[in-house]
Amino acid sequence: MSFGNLVLVGVALFAILGAVGAFTIAFRRSQSDESADVVDPTAGVSSETLKADKSMVGVRVEPIPVPVIEETGEETGDEVEVEVEVGVAEPEPSPVAIQVVETQRVVEVSPEEAGVTRRQFFNRALNVTFFSFLGIMGINSLAFFWPRLSGGFGSDIDAGSLAEVKSAVFTPTGSILPLFIPEAKAYVVPAPTSLSDQYAGKQVETDGLMALFQRCVHLGCRVPWCAPSQGFECPCHGSKYNSVGEYFAGPAPRNLDRFVVEVRDGRFIIKTGSVIQTSRAPALSVNYPQGPSCIGATSGDEEA
Ligand code: FES
Repeated sequence: MSFGNLVLVGVALFAILGAVGAFTIAFRRSQSDESADVVDPTAGVSSETLKADKSMVGVRVEPIPVPVIEETGEETGDEVEVEVEVGVAEPEPSPVAIQVVETQRVVEVSPEEAGVTRRQFFNRALNVTFFSFLGIMGINSLAFFWPRLSGGFGSDIDAGSLAEVKSAVFTPTGSILPLFIPEAKAYVVPAPTSLSDQYAGKQVETDGLMALFQRCVHLGCRVPWCAPSQGFECPCHGSKYNSVGEYFAGPAPRNLDRFVVEVRDGRFIIKTGSVIQTSRAPALSVNYPQGPSCIGATSGDEEA
């Protein structure tokens, strides 16, 4: 696995774990809030916020006056005169611990110090998930369009040693058998003895070999080799090309595309990052067809 793929996998795992962690924390918080018998108003508030919160310091709680009835009287014969005095008794000191200070200090608590509400938490979790998703999509898009520097289609593909490639392409019977290189999506074929002017200045041939892109230039079907006719014939709409990829018939607008090739340290290298396009060949440099077609009619100049 390439470094780029590892980075993508790592970012994806990080985003997924982050989202799962966020939702787990939120779920636990909501559970603990609902199950708590006593609501703690300071639950979830950070220690810094509690330290800064002086709202209860300096608050004096006035005692509630309790009415009392005092009975005084003196006996006068058969009657007893009763005087009732209604007053306010001094309440007993409350056992509630209230700190009373001389001066009051009001401290305004900012939203940040007051902690994160559940709504804020969910909003932030959603934002993190959304932007992580966007980031992953962006990285994937970049990786898709970024030219590969090593390995895979889009990079330089080693098709094998030059001797091996030649022995596979040129058969003992004299016919040719294109060597298909799956990683390069290319057929290695013998190059024409005299290269067309269309390729002037372009390295599409080396040591008598060239590499054709397997994709039909009409609508992109893979074009198979037809041994009897010694050409490439597209089964989708009938485009036909000779053994070196020159257009012969069908709706294809041009020759098969080619790759830049070179021999490096005795190896046949196909540069799949460099695709060479050419218009229909004015004249075929290799005869076609040399036998029956694999898909039917073989007449030239068949237009779509
Ligand atoms: Fe090959 Fe249409 S895709 S002829």
